[in-house]
Amino acid sequence: PTLQKLVPLHGVPMAIEIAENWETVEQFQAKSDDLVISTYPKAGTTWASEIVDMIYAGGDLEKCCRDTIYNRVPYLEARIPGMPTGVEQLAVAPSPRLLKTHLPIHMMPNSFWEKNAKVIYVARNAKDVAVSYFFFHQIVKAMPDPGPWGVFLDNYMEGNVSYGSWYEHVKGWWEKRNDHNILYLFYEDMKEDPKREIRKMLHFLEKDMSDDIVEKIAYHTSFDIMKTNDMANYKTIPNELLDQSTTSFMRKGIAGDWKNHFTVAQNEKFDEEYKRKMSDTRLHFRSEI
Ligand code: A3P
Repeated sequence: PTLQKLVPLHGVPMAIEIAENWETVEQFQAKSDDLVISTYPKAGTTWASEIVDMIYAGGDLEKCCRDTIYNRVPYLEARIPGMPTGVEQLAVAPSPRLLKTHLPIHMMPNSFWEKNAKVIYVARNAKDVAVSYFFFHQIVKAMPDPGPWGVFLDNYMEGNVSYGSWYEHVKGWWEKRNDHNILYLFYEDMKEDPKREIRKMLHFLEKDMSDDIVEKIAYHTSFDIMKTNDMANYKTIPNELLDQSTTSFMRKGIAGDWKNHFTVAQNEKFDEEYKRKMSDTRLHFRSEI
């Protein structure tokens, strides 16, 4: 496939395929019972999607998980060659619909706010996202060549990657979390105590479940189980699009892997920059647990 070109859209570098089709996304008609999983790429989108889908199925694996996660939780702005667009998938999806997006909050179609649809936002610390995103560029054949790690890291810190700046993304959603129906969660919290975070989701979704079912959901959505589950690990997507031969989509699934990749100098530079870019927010991350 030809390499994805990034073009500025509302000030954010986006894949040209998405930019060219932007009107259909912008005009998307949300429904009040839609549930959106929103994330900066690599923050735990697939994990949260699997959890939410299981919640909607009442913990019943037969009901929930026979199809791929790609079809069960369509990707709103997706426009992948040879596949229906996210908007097309959603047009025929039965309600209540689940969907995912990586859009910064200022690019969300207005309809979601007009309908007061619920959004679960998952944020993950900047360093682990950088590492995960770097490897993801090697898996997705259409993504631009990330270059060596140090070069990619500089681009990431500059917001010169698909979906733009991690800083703007996490802060943008954080600042608006009380203006809309948004539950703001952290990947590190999900790692620390998945059942506690599943309970937060249940509360937000106004659902109740027995401890046994919560336990079952936590087990089914644990990294080790999802890694071997082809309905969740994107193994069903053809190799020409997603090449998992050298590194998997379900790569490590931990908090703190950045320590294996950042040099001391890169870490110092990153921390300094981080302090500056996050000085205007009280949003706090843990980059290890
Ligand atoms: P790593 O590359 O650090 O392993 P997304 O779904 O947003 O693209 O995020 C992918 C990241 O989430 C990958 O991170 C992947 O391994 C991790 N992940 C996926 N499922 C997970 C799970 N059940 N538990 C923990 N991490 C998970």
